[in-house]
Amino acid sequence: MRTTSFAETGALWIHHHDGVRSYTMTPPDFWDHAWKGSLLGPDDGADASTWLNEIDRRKMLFVSPRLPLHGRALEVGCGSARLLCRVGRETQLDLCGIDRSPNALNLARRTAATFDVAIETCLGDAATLPIADDEVDVVLSGGLLEHFREPVPILAEMVRVLRPGGLLYADVVPRKLSLYRLSELRRLLRDPWMRAGIYESSFGPEMYREWLLELGLEDVQAMWCGVYPRLTARFPSRARRLIERATRSADSTLVADLLGWYFMISARKGSPQC
Ligand SMILES: C[S@@+](CC[C@H](N)C(=O)[O-])C[C@H]1O[C@@H](n2cnc3c(N)ncnc32)[C@H](O)[C@@H]1O
Repeated sequence: MRTTSFAETGALWIHHHDGVRSYTMTPPDFWDHAWKGSLLGPDDGADASTWLNEIDRRKMLFVSPRLPLHGRALEVGCGSARLLCRVGRETQLDLCGIDRSPNALNLARRTAATFDVAIETCLGDAATLPIADDEVDVVLSGGLLEHFREPVPILAEMVRVLRPGGLLYADVVPRKLSLYRLSELRRLLRDPWMRAGIYESSFGPEMYREWLLELGLEDVQAMWCGVYPRLTARFPSRARRLIERATRSADSTLVADLLGWYFMISARKGSPQC
Protein backbone atom coordinates (compact mmCIF):
# COMPACT_ATOMS: atom_id res chain seq x y z
CA MET A 1 0.00 0.00 0.00
CA ARG A 2 1.17 3.50 -0.76
CA THR A 3 1.26 5.90 2.15
CA THR A 4 2.14 9.54 1.83
CA SER A 5 5.57 10.57 2.91
CA PHE A 6 6.77 13.49 4.94
CA ALA A 7 7.92 15.20 1.76
CA GLU A 8 4.42 15.01 0.27
CA THR A 9 2.35 15.94 3.28
CA GLY A 10 4.57 17.46 5.90
CA ALA A 11 3.42 14.48 7.97
CA LEU A 12 4.43 14.63 11.55
CA TRP A 13 3.76 11.86 14.05
CA ILE A 14 3.61 13.21 17.53
CA HIS A 15 3.91 11.52 20.90
CA HIS A 16 1.58 12.84 23.57
CA HIS A 17 2.52 13.02 27.23
CA ASP A 18 0.56 9.81 27.88
CA GLY A 19 2.66 7.94 25.31
CA VAL A 20 -0.11 7.68 22.70
CA ARG A 21 1.29 8.05 19.23
CA SER A 22 -1.08 10.24 17.30
CA TYR A 23 -1.15 11.66 13.81
CA THR A 24 -3.27 14.70 14.40
CA MET A 25 -1.75 18.13 14.73
CA THR A 26 -4.61 19.63 16.70
CA PRO A 27 -3.89 19.62 20.45
CA PRO A 28 -6.20 17.17 22.27
CA ASP A 29 -7.68 19.80 24.59
CA PHE A 30 -8.67 22.14 21.75
CA TRP A 31 -11.94 20.37 21.01
CA ASP A 32 -12.64 19.59 24.64
CA HIS A 33 -12.59 23.30 25.36
CA ALA A 34 -14.77 24.06 22.32
CA TRP A 35 -17.35 21.42 23.26
CA LYS A 36 -17.47 22.71 26.83
CA GLY A 37 -18.69 25.99 25.34
CA SER A 38 -21.30 24.16 23.23
CA LEU A 39 -22.59 22.36 26.31
CA LEU A 40 -23.35 25.72 27.89
CA GLY A 41 -25.48 26.73 24.89
CA PRO A 42 -28.94 25.48 23.90
CA ASP A 43 -29.57 22.31 21.92
CA ASP A 44 -31.83 23.18 18.99
CA GLY A 45 -32.87 19.58 18.44
CA ALA A 46 -33.15 17.71 15.17
CA ASP A 47 -36.03 19.51 13.50
CA ALA A 48 -35.49 23.21 14.18
CA SER A 49 -34.80 25.31 11.13
CA THR A 50 -31.16 25.94 11.93
CA TRP A 51 -28.16 26.13 9.68
CA LEU A 52 -26.58 23.05 11.26
CA ASN A 53 -29.73 21.03 10.71
CA GLU A 54 -29.84 22.10 7.04
CA ILE A 55 -26.30 20.85 6.54
CA ASP A 56 -27.03 17.60 8.39
CA ARG A 57 -30.11 17.00 6.25
CA ARG A 58 -28.01 17.47 3.12
CA LYS A 59 -25.58 14.84 4.39
CA MET A 60 -28.42 12.45 5.21
CA LEU A 61 -29.68 12.67 1.61
CA PHE A 62 -26.35 11.14 0.62
CA VAL A 63 -26.00 8.68 3.51
CA SER A 64 -29.57 7.37 3.97
CA PRO A 65 -29.90 5.30 0.78
CA ARG A 66 -26.63 3.52 1.64
CA LEU A 67 -27.51 2.54 5.22
CA PRO A 68 -28.42 -0.94 6.43
CA LEU A 69 -31.39 -1.04 8.81
CA HIS A 70 -29.74 -3.19 11.49
CA GLY A 71 -26.31 -3.74 12.99
CA ARG A 72 -23.84 -1.34 14.55
CA ALA A 73 -22.95 2.21 13.53
CA LEU A 74 -19.84 3.93 14.86
CA GLU A 75 -18.99 7.62 14.53
CA VAL A 76 -15.28 8.30 14.93
CA GLY A 77 -14.46 11.76 16.30
CA CYS A 78 -18.18 12.08 16.93
CA GLY A 79 -18.15 15.53 18.55
CA SER A 80 -21.84 16.35 19.01
CA ALA A 81 -22.80 13.04 17.28
CA ARG A 82 -25.55 14.84 15.41
CA LEU A 83 -25.06 12.79 12.25
CA LEU A 84 -24.89 9.52 14.18
CA CYS A 85 -28.11 10.35 16.04
CA ARG A 86 -29.84 11.23 12.76
CA VAL A 87 -28.78 7.83 11.43
CA GLY A 88 -30.27 6.33 14.59
CA ARG A 89 -33.59 8.09 13.94
CA GLU A 90 -33.86 6.52 10.48
CA THR A 91 -32.70 2.97 11.26
CA GLN A 92 -32.57 0.31 13.97
CA LEU A 93 -28.75 0.51 14.07
CA ASP A 94 -27.05 0.40 17.50
CA LEU A 95 -25.12 3.64 17.84
CA CYS A 96 -21.66 4.21 19.29
CA GLY A 97 -19.74 7.51 19.29
CA ILE A 98 -16.01 7.65 19.94
CA ASP A 99 -14.09 10.81 20.67
CA ARG A 100 -11.02 11.64 22.69
CA SER A 101 -12.75 14.68 24.21
CA PRO A 102 -14.81 13.93 27.35
CA ASN A 103 -16.93 17.01 26.70
CA ALA A 104 -17.71 15.79 23.17
CA LEU A 105 -19.10 12.63 24.73
CA ASN A 106 -21.21 14.67 27.16
CA LEU A 107 -22.53 16.61 24.19
CA ALA A 108 -23.14 13.40 22.21
CA ARG A 109 -25.25 12.05 25.09
CA ARG A 110 -27.19 15.31 25.17
CA THR A 111 -27.82 15.10 21.42
CA ALA A 112 -29.00 11.49 21.80
CA ALA A 113 -31.46 12.58 24.49
CA THR A 114 -32.90 15.41 22.37
CA PHE A 115 -33.02 13.21 19.24
CA ASP A 116 -34.63 10.48 21.35
CA VAL A 117 -32.19 7.72 20.40
CA ALA A 118 -29.97 5.44 22.49
CA ILE A 119 -26.23 5.88 22.13
CA GLU A 120 -23.11 4.32 23.62
CA THR A 121 -20.16 6.67 24.05
CA CYS A 122 -16.53 5.77 24.32
CA LEU A 123 -13.44 7.81 25.12
CA GLY A 124 -10.84 6.72 22.60
CA ASP A 125 -8.33 7.64 19.92
CA ALA A 126 -9.17 7.32 16.23
CA ALA A 127 -5.66 5.96 15.66
CA THR A 128 -6.26 2.94 17.95
CA LEU A 129 -9.98 2.23 18.05
CA PRO A 130 -10.94 0.02 21.01
CA ILE A 131 -12.97 -2.28 18.76
CA ALA A 132 -12.23 -5.73 17.31
CA ASP A 133 -11.80 -6.35 13.58
CA ASP A 134 -14.90 -6.63 11.36
CA GLU A 135 -17.34 -5.61 14.13
CA VAL A 136 -19.13 -2.61 12.72
CA ASP A 137 -21.66 -2.26 9.88
CA VAL A 138 -21.34 1.50 9.37
CA VAL A 139 -18.40 3.79 10.17
CA LEU A 140 -19.08 7.52 9.98
CA SER A 141 -16.88 10.55 10.41
CA GLY A 142 -17.66 14.21 9.88
CA GLY A 143 -15.08 16.97 9.85
CA LEU A 144 -12.41 14.68 11.31
CA LEU A 145 -10.06 13.49 8.59
CA GLU A 146 -8.87 16.90 7.42
CA HIS A 147 -7.34 17.48 10.84
CA PHE A 148 -4.69 14.80 10.29
CA ARG A 149 -1.56 15.42 8.30
CA GLU A 150 -1.52 11.69 7.67
CA PRO A 151 -5.11 10.44 7.29
CA VAL A 152 -4.23 6.95 5.98
CA PRO A 153 -3.63 5.29 9.39
CA ILE A 154 -6.95 6.71 10.60
CA LEU A 155 -8.76 5.42 7.50
CA ALA A 156 -7.03 2.04 7.90
CA GLU A 157 -8.30 1.83 11.46
CA MET A 158 -11.85 2.61 10.32
CA VAL A 159 -11.58 -0.06 7.64
CA ARG A 160 -10.19 -2.61 10.12
CA VAL A 161 -13.28 -2.39 12.37
CA LEU A 162 -15.71 -2.44 9.43
CA ARG A 163 -17.21 -5.81 8.57
CA PRO A 164 -16.97 -7.01 4.95
CA GLY A 165 -19.73 -5.30 2.99
CA GLY A 166 -19.94 -2.55 5.61
CA LEU A 167 -20.29 1.15 4.75
CA LEU A 168 -17.72 3.84 5.35
CA TYR A 169 -18.92 7.45 5.12
CA ALA A 170 -16.90 10.59 5.68
CA ASP A 171 -17.38 14.27 5.07
CA VAL A 172 -14.30 16.40 4.81
CA VAL A 173 -13.69 20.16 4.80
CA PRO A 174 -10.31 20.58 3.16
CA ARG A 175 -8.29 23.74 2.85
CA LYS A 176 -9.56 24.98 -0.51
CA LEU A 177 -11.11 27.90 -2.32
CA SER A 178 -14.90 27.99 -1.85
CA LEU A 179 -17.68 30.54 -1.83
CA TYR A 180 -18.31 29.69 1.81
CA ARG A 181 -14.74 30.52 2.82
CA LEU A 182 -13.98 33.31 0.39
CA SER A 183 -13.19 35.77 3.15
CA GLU A 184 -10.50 33.37 4.41
CA LEU A 185 -8.83 33.05 1.02
CA ARG A 186 -5.57 34.78 1.87
CA ARG A 187 -5.07 32.71 4.99
CA LEU A 188 -6.06 29.52 3.19
CA LEU A 189 -3.41 30.08 0.55
CA ARG A 190 -0.72 30.91 3.05
CA ASP A 191 -1.32 28.93 6.16
CA PRO A 192 -2.11 25.27 7.01
CA TRP A 193 -3.99 26.25 10.16
CA MET A 194 -7.71 26.80 10.01
CA ARG A 195 -7.33 28.97 13.05
CA ALA A 196 -5.01 28.82 15.99
CA GLY A 197 -4.93 25.21 17.13
CA ILE A 198 -6.65 23.48 14.19
CA TYR A 199 -4.56 22.00 11.43
CA GLU A 200 -6.38 21.44 8.13
CA SER A 201 -5.09 19.42 5.16
CA SER A 202 -5.95 20.09 1.54
CA PHE A 203 -6.39 16.47 0.39
CA GLY A 204 -9.37 16.21 -1.95
CA PRO A 205 -11.69 13.34 -2.91
CA GLU A 206 -9.34 11.91 -5.55
CA MET A 207 -6.63 11.32 -2.96
CA TYR A 208 -9.15 9.75 -0.58
CA ARG A 209 -10.49 7.58 -3.40
CA GLU A 210 -6.98 6.30 -4.08
CA TRP A 211 -6.35 5.59 -0.40
CA LEU A 212 -9.68 3.81 0.08
CA LEU A 213 -9.11 1.60 -2.96
CA GLU A 214 -5.64 0.75 -1.68
CA LEU A 215 -7.21 -0.18 1.66
CA GLY A 216 -9.43 -2.70 -0.16
CA LEU A 217 -12.64 -0.69 -0.29
CA GLU A 218 -14.96 -0.78 -3.28
CA ASP A 219 -17.74 1.30 -4.79
CA VAL A 220 -16.11 4.60 -3.80
CA GLN A 221 -18.51 7.52 -4.37
CA ALA A 222 -17.58 11.13 -3.73
CA MET A 223 -19.21 14.48 -4.32
CA TRP A 224 -18.38 18.11 -3.67
CA CYS A 225 -21.15 20.13 -1.99
CA GLY A 226 -22.00 23.48 -0.47
CA VAL A 227 -21.94 26.12 -3.20
CA TYR A 228 -23.16 29.11 -1.23
CA PRO A 229 -21.57 31.98 0.66
CA ARG A 230 -21.13 31.85 4.42
CA LEU A 231 -23.35 34.91 4.68
CA THR A 232 -26.30 32.64 3.85
CA ALA A 233 -26.10 31.17 7.35
CA ARG A 234 -27.19 34.52 8.78
CA PHE A 235 -30.30 34.86 6.59
CA PRO A 236 -33.77 34.27 8.02
CA SER A 237 -34.53 30.56 8.00
CA ARG A 238 -36.93 30.61 5.03
CA ALA A 239 -34.54 32.48 2.75
CA ARG A 240 -31.63 30.37 3.92
CA ARG A 241 -33.44 27.14 3.24
CA LEU A 242 -34.47 28.34 -0.21
CA ILE A 243 -30.88 29.25 -1.09
CA GLU A 244 -29.45 26.02 0.30
CA ARG A 245 -31.97 23.90 -1.63
CA ALA A 246 -31.60 25.92 -4.84
CA THR A 247 -27.82 25.56 -4.77
CA ARG A 248 -28.04 21.80 -4.17
CA SER A 249 -28.43 21.37 -7.93
CA ALA A 250 -24.81 22.49 -8.20
CA ASP A 251 -23.62 19.72 -5.85
CA SER A 252 -21.57 17.09 -7.61
CA THR A 253 -20.98 19.36 -10.63
CA LEU A 254 -17.86 21.15 -11.78
CA VAL A 255 -19.18 24.27 -10.05
CA ALA A 256 -19.09 22.43 -6.72
CA ASP A 257 -15.59 21.08 -7.49
CA LEU A 258 -14.49 24.68 -7.84
CA LEU A 259 -16.62 26.50 -5.29
CA GLY A 260 -18.08 23.96 -2.83
CA TRP A 261 -16.72 23.91 0.72
CA TYR A 262 -16.93 20.24 1.68
CA PHE A 263 -17.09 16.82 0.08
CA MET A 264 -18.76 13.59 1.10
CA ILE A 265 -17.31 10.20 0.33
CA SER A 266 -18.61 6.69 0.84
CA ALA A 267 -17.22 3.22 0.13
CA ARG A 268 -17.86 -0.42 0.97
CA LYS A 269 -15.43 -2.89 2.44
CA GLY A 270 -14.86 -5.73 0.01
CA SER A 271 -15.45 -9.35 1.01
CA PRO A 272 -12.31 -11.47 1.54
CA GLN A 273 -11.32 -13.62 -1.47
CA CYS A 274 -11.89 -17.35 -0.81
C1 LIG B 1 -14.86 18.92 13.72
S1 LIG B 1 -15.08 17.94 15.12
C2 LIG B 1 -16.33 16.81 14.61
C3 LIG B 1 -17.66 17.41 14.60
C4 LIG B 1 -18.78 16.42 14.52
N1 LIG B 1 -18.85 15.78 13.24
C5 LIG B 1 -20.06 17.13 14.85
O1 LIG B 1 -20.98 17.21 14.00
O2 LIG B 1 -20.17 17.65 15.96
C6 LIG B 1 -13.71 16.83 15.21
C7 LIG B 1 -13.83 15.87 16.38
O3 LIG B 1 -12.81 14.90 16.27
C8 LIG B 1 -12.29 14.64 17.54
N2 LIG B 1 -10.93 14.12 17.37
C9 LIG B 1 -9.85 14.75 16.86
N3 LIG B 1 -8.78 13.94 16.85
C10 LIG B 1 -9.20 12.76 17.39
C11 LIG B 1 -8.55 11.52 17.65
N4 LIG B 1 -7.27 11.34 17.38
N5 LIG B 1 -9.30 10.53 18.18
C12 LIG B 1 -10.63 10.70 18.47
N6 LIG B 1 -11.26 11.86 18.26
C13 LIG B 1 -10.58 12.87 17.71
C14 LIG B 1 -12.32 15.98 18.26
O4 LIG B 1 -12.28 15.84 19.67
C15 LIG B 1 -13.63 16.55 17.74
O5 LIG B 1 -14.69 16.23 18.60
